[in-house]
Amino acid sequence: SFDVVLSRSGRTVRIAPDVSITQALAAEGVAIDTSCEQGVCGTCLIRVLEGEVDHRDLYLTPEEQASHTQMLPCCSRAASARLVLDL
Ligand code: FES
Repeated sequence: SFDVVLSRSGRTVRIAPDVSITQALAAEGVAIDTSCEQGVCGTCLIRVLEGEVDHRDLYLTPEEQASHTQMLPCCSRAASARLVLDL
């Protein structure tokens, strides 16, 4: 599991291993628009302010993935203990 920090509210949400970031945040009342939920369409794209992303999408280019400045939270996860998101 890992923590997601919502930069605008300062809230921290723990993401369990079997739950996506979008599912976990929806359960906390933070809705992110989704469509494919498979990392293909780009609908759920959000900005990453801190942390390393475990990219599991097919949407971002390798360069975009390597910059760790954006992610597809319907399928991608954290490669660090904590991600700070522009939410
Ligand atoms: Fe399509 Fe996340 S909902 S990439």
